[in-house]
Amino acid sequence: MTPDGAAALKKEDGGTVSTKRGIVVLDFGGQYTQLIARRIREQQVFSAILPCTASLEEIRAQEPVGIVLSGGPSSVYDADAPKCDPKVLALSVPVLGICYGMQWLTHTLGGKVERAERREYGPAHLDIEKESALFKGVPERLKIWNSHGDHVSGLPEGFHVTGRTDNAIGAVEHPAKKFFGVEFHPEVNHTDRGTDILNNFVFGICGAKPNWSRAGFIAEMVDKIRKQSDGARAICALSGGVDSCVAAVLVHRAMGDRLTNVFVDTGLLRRNEFHETLELLRARLGLNVVGVDASERFLGKLAGVTDPEKKRKIIGNEFISVFAEEARKLADSTKGLPIKFLVQGTLYPDVIESVSVKGPSAVIKSHHNVGGLPADMPFGLIEPLRDLFKDEVRQIGRELGLPEEILVKQPFPGPGLAVRLVGAITREKLETLRGAEAVVVEEIRRAGLYEKTWQAFAVLLPVQSVGVMGDGRTYGDTIAVRVVESQDAMTADWSRLPHEVLARISTRIVNEVPGVNRVVYDISSKPPSTIEWE
Ligand code: XMP
Repeated sequence: MTPDGAAALKKEDGGTVSTKRGIVVLDFGGQYTQLIARRIREQQVFSAILPCTASLEEIRAQEPVGIVLSGGPSSVYDADAPKCDPKVLALSVPVLGICYGMQWLTHTLGGKVERAERREYGPAHLDIEKESALFKGVPERLKIWNSHGDHVSGLPEGFHVTGRTDNAIGAVEHPAKKFFGVEFHPEVNHTDRGTDILNNFVFGICGAKPNWSRAGFIAEMVDKIRKQSDGARAICALSGGVDSCVAAVLVHRAMGDRLTNVFVDTGLLRRNEFHETLELLRARLGLNVVGVDASERFLGKLAGVTDPEKKRKIIGNEFISVFAEEARKLADSTKGLPIKFLVQGTLYPDVIESVSVKGPSAVIKSHHNVGGLPADMPFGLIEPLRDLFKDEVRQIGRELGLPEEILVKQPFPGPGLAVRLVGAITREKLETLRGAEAVVVEEIRRAGLYEKTWQAFAVLLPVQSVGVMGDGRTYGDTIAVRVVESQDAMTADWSRLPHEVLARISTRIVNEVPGVNRVVYDISSKPPSTIEWE
């Protein structure tokens, strides 16, 4: 793997963008850890999440001006309680412990943490008792958001209490050492002035500089990719989704026609998607795209297969072999100019996923977007988005001039309609599903809900039922409509669509899609269900 992303972005002259001299968030497994990093980045200060088990060298390599210790579900007294190296507290930078982070901080320095009799969860009030750099400019009484069991009951030497809730010590500090702790969560919206509190830490206490800007990021990344690619060629598998498109446009800026993109029609795309996306990528984005119609191959291999995992495997393998063939063809046709790089739209959550509290030994997925390429295709990776969150990718895309219709696109799974057609896949069933899916998306857009919902789609069930149309009896297909709201697809809830929208979707599907006589709405959340049906 080529070293891409964060480290190489550093500008020695302290220029416009830097992943150095930001804030390191050490993750104790808290549900809001990513949110802490995002809040800091919103202030144009880079923030990296590292597992709490990160070595001192890894932390030092980021040259942080401050460290945040995240929350987490454990008690410091648990046998397997997550810990970080206590030498983190000797790096001579300010430290802010949030919830479990505050408990670990005080416990490690000789304070007392008490097992709580009852968990404090949800809204509470914090009364600020003592002037503190952390609470500069915020009112003395604040509505805050709690989510903790244990709490700090005895302070280490040099610490004093700065705020209390009804039940517990709410905030502590050691001003000389610049160690701070809050029992509540300043990163969540439910905490009044949470952003001000974080800003006080980031700017007032740590002295961070707001040098993480979109324009700066693009300029630096283009420069870096130019140097890294050094005249070689690169290839990118486009899915038509936001991430791969933004990655391709960014790399195109750096490499021009030395980047070739491959967009594969698996036969499992939505209505008109192949041609419309090709047109969009070529004409509107000026990308060099090879469109490969491989639908015969995919549908041939999938014929008669009903097991969802088997379907996924077939699609993954077939995709890799199509992509590998295209890469070889391309290499043969570009005498003397080797294809050295593979461009992927890997995002920051993919990079930190599973590392978290499990520590650096946990496997980080590589090549995960293309599911593992054959060993005889030795590509270095260009992953220009690997430091970014999804909303930052959208902003970078906007800055790069990508059309809104790409930027606001709802996610579409790699295996396409195969995971939305339960049972054996046939061309006829795919046509039915495409018709229903088009209606769902059209009506959701018309109701102004496309950008408010995470995904809206149709599923074709292997269930037939009796109906009556006109004067005749029918025995037709069933479509399940799935519309969910979610932040990150890890959890999701079904969308409470207005009845009129549901009614329009149902009527139109039955009237417009031949063979369908019944429409049901999926009212399951994730967990226990998943978003897709498979
Ligand atoms: P589930 O069904 O697991 O889906 O709740 C979570 C999110 O992931 C999408 N999804 C996929 N995306 N390749 C992808 O690129 C896949 O194989 C895949 N399977 C599910 C799904 O659409 C939802 O947003």
